[in-house]
Amino acid sequence: MCGIVGYIGKRPAVGIIIDGLKDLEYRGYDSAGIALLDNKNQAGFVIKQAGRVEGLEKLILDSQVPASSVGVGHTRWATHGLPTTINAHPQFNTAKTIFVVHNGIIENYLELKSFLITKKYKFISQTDTEVVPQLIDYYYRKTKSLDRAFEETIKSIKGAYAIVMASTYQPDKLYVAKLSSPLVIGVGKNEYIIASDPTPIMQYTKEVVYLEDFEIAVIDRHGYRIKHIEKDINVERKAELLDLDVSKASMGDFPTYMLKEIFEAPQTIMSATLGRVRLETNTVKLGGLESVEGQLKFIDRIVIVACGTSSYAGLLGEYLIEEIAGIPVEVQLSSEFKYRHEPFSRSTALIAISQSGETADTIAALKKVDDYGVLKLGIVNVVGSTIARMTDAGVYTHAGPEYAVASTKAFIAQVVVLIQIALMLAGPNKLYRPLLKELIELPNKVQLVLDQAPKIEQIAKKYVNYRDFIFIGRNYDYPAALEGALKLKEISYIHAEGYAAGEMKHGPIAMIDKDFPTFALACNSPLIDKTYSNIEEIKARGGPVVAIANKGNTTIKKLANDIIYVPKSLEQTQAILEVIAMQLFAYYIASQKGLNVDKPRNLAKSVTVE
Ligand code: BG6
Repeated sequence: MCGIVGYIGKRPAVGIIIDGLKDLEYRGYDSAGIALLDNKNQAGFVIKQAGRVEGLEKLILDSQVPASSVGVGHTRWATHGLPTTINAHPQFNTAKTIFVVHNGIIENYLELKSFLITKKYKFISQTDTEVVPQLIDYYYRKTKSLDRAFEETIKSIKGAYAIVMASTYQPDKLYVAKLSSPLVIGVGKNEYIIASDPTPIMQYTKEVVYLEDFEIAVIDRHGYRIKHIEKDINVERKAELLDLDVSKASMGDFPTYMLKEIFEAPQTIMSATLGRVRLETNTVKLGGLESVEGQLKFIDRIVIVACGTSSYAGLLGEYLIEEIAGIPVEVQLSSEFKYRHEPFSRSTALIAISQSGETADTIAALKKVDDYGVLKLGIVNVVGSTIARMTDAGVYTHAGPEYAVASTKAFIAQVVVLIQIALMLAGPNKLYRPLLKELIELPNKVQLVLDQAPKIEQIAKKYVNYRDFIFIGRNYDYPAALEGALKLKEISYIHAEGYAAGEMKHGPIAMIDKDFPTFALACNSPLIDKTYSNIEEIKARGGPVVAIANKGNTTIKKLANDIIYVPKSLEQTQAILEVIAMQLFAYYIASQKGLNVDKPRNLAKSVTVE
């Protein structure tokens, strides 16, 4: 899960590549580097280091960088080898004539490495990627053709990869290859910007070409040639138009992307229901599922596959679809689903939920059922992403670009889409109309939660030094508690667990003491009395309690140390308001700890390797 950028054109490449790497830093940020081909003598110039792109930029400003309009760049999330300068990309051949940036994992790199070592090749890094430029070098010496050398090399590697290669042997070309990891080619006027996703491209051009698996392409200033190496055929592919709004990419007046994205929740809900929820006709219209509406009628089981925050949205979806549409649903973590042996009937539908649409585990889960003949649906945020293109039908969440590594608005949009899918599958029933109306009223209620931000910040101040936290909830609040705990873990590095409130007495309550606070979801529901008893049990062990409750709830005042009041909503939608309050709570704890909330340590926005 790295970010890669390539540029070939007329403009100075260095600035375009560095800006592109900054846009992609959410994919990995432990080391970065670029390679440029000197316009004058075509020599290769590499500069790389451990640490953020801004550090690399400073290094470049202090260095004699040649004038160059061809180059590649990389921002890394280490998989093989520590985040050091040697292991940073670009990796190159011993003669420093071939420069490669790679996102993914070369699964057979050890085998290739030992073969090349028998051919007297020397390796300086601990990376899997270094075998690529060395192998290209090997085939180039054999074939005297860089095109052939590149193709032979790509045919020899196994695993997941998005690769961009530049070489002094062909200084007017860039070579790219894709398998599983994302790669987009931005088509400009006599210039091409290659990147892991459209973000670094959209300020230069809205015309893009998506490479498919097993495709390679050779790009020069006049065009690109695509070849499918498995089918051994040339591929004609026209550029398609990006419908991404550049303005949404900026942080606006917010100090961080995460806070901006939390505060976008009202707009996010409106965008996820726009043209879909029709109160006047009492209907839900999901255009992206119309092509499979007939098949959906025969679905008698749904399996949801996802990772991280998307899996908790999926778990809320399980509760929603089962209650509203009466169809049994099972959420499975994608990384587990791929290797489980379970029966699948053709009347089962698989729903893949992913913000990025590029998460390798979820892609692998979809590939697993390729020959099962089951309906594959996607709930995805990034338009044109791999999961969007490999599913039979789906629903975009329209939450706009999400940059902060910890997902916030995408979760809200995923839950709102899952409510609409449940209603579409159910057809009119007693929950139908109230839920349609609530989806329209939610943005205002969400704004009332966001207005609590200063109060939530004050409460967070009291809990910033605790080392452990447990989040509890019942029914719809259980998945919400899991998501609340994940947010705190992701950005504050505090150990936090989400737990079904009823399970506390079967184990976790043993941990409770004055140093182990509990975050209790206690909004009005048929189960509120049971939640009160759970809070009492915690109080009895001296555990501090922060609670989320509905306005006017006086009972909770006697139980909790701190209370965040949120507007009343339906049982099925209350979790949306609660999760936003917990996103803010986690945010203020992490920012008060002075942590980088947008780029938490050890994480990345989308994990494109298994
Ligand atoms: C992790 C992200 O890498 O992947 C999480 O840090 C995210 O925020 C998870 O929830 C799943 O990603 P996606 O894009 O498949 O929803």
